[in-house]
Amino acid sequence: MFNIILFGPPGSGKGTQSEKLILQYGLKHLSTGDLLRTEIASQTPLGLEAKNFMDKGQLVPDEVVIGMISTALDANSKANGFLFDGFPRTKAQSEALDKLLKLKQTEIGVVLSLQVSEEELVKRLLNRGLTSGRTDDNNEEVIRERIAEYHRKTSAVADHYQTFEKVVAIPGEGSVDEIFESLSAEIDHRMSAHTTFR
Ligand code: AP5
Repeated sequence: MFNIILFGPPGSGKGTQSEKLILQYGLKHLSTGDLLRTEIASQTPLGLEAKNFMDKGQLVPDEVVIGMISTALDANSKANGFLFDGFPRTKAQSEALDKLLKLKQTEIGVVLSLQVSEEELVKRLLNRGLTSGRTDDNNEEVIRERIAEYHRKTSAVADHYQTFEKVVAIPGEGSVDEIFESLSAEIDHRMSAHTTFR
């Protein structure tokens, strides 16, 4: 089993690249943003609670998202590996994920960190907000708050995995295909090392 965290600020291309990577590598895509939006669409109590935070550009409480990921891991016990998108987003979430994976006798293979300038992030998200219907995309103040949350709380996730030398920075500006090639080259390299040492 080979597990990947696709890491980066809001709008860095995690969702776009995830769609291509899961096809290429046969991984199960776990996006906490998508899981939360499904809960909101179904108007569950969890979704209604989460919406309050998401509409303001703030992170949803750790226990909510950790619970969702734990359920998703159990529901996909036969997966070849997982591609985590938008999770973990705090140090507490990283530590919880490491424990959950250890229980399944696996671990994170690599953290691919997409690097995109703030102005490009804002431009992409405002542009998507014209058509996406996402309430957190159509207001620049909320977009900048999401980016600020990333710097306040989420960049610590990269520090956590850097301790284990698992973080690789990938330029996230350019064409979608060019970025996909850079990500794939790094995954191929890490996967072959993983197989060699097993
Ligand atoms: P989430 O759904 O995870 O959103 P996000 O991280 O803010 O990221 P986005 O989906 O907006 O961006 P992305 O990096 O996936 O980029 P994308 O490919 O879509 O989270 C939303 C909210 O849910 C959070 O604010 C929080 O409240 C809550 N939440 C989620 N997970 C949580 C957690 N673990 N803990 C606590 N709270 C959590 O691309 C963006 C746009 O750019 C698209 O229009 C795309 O077409 C375009 N684009 C992509 N690549 C390129 C390129 N190379 N060139 C030009 N445009 C591009």
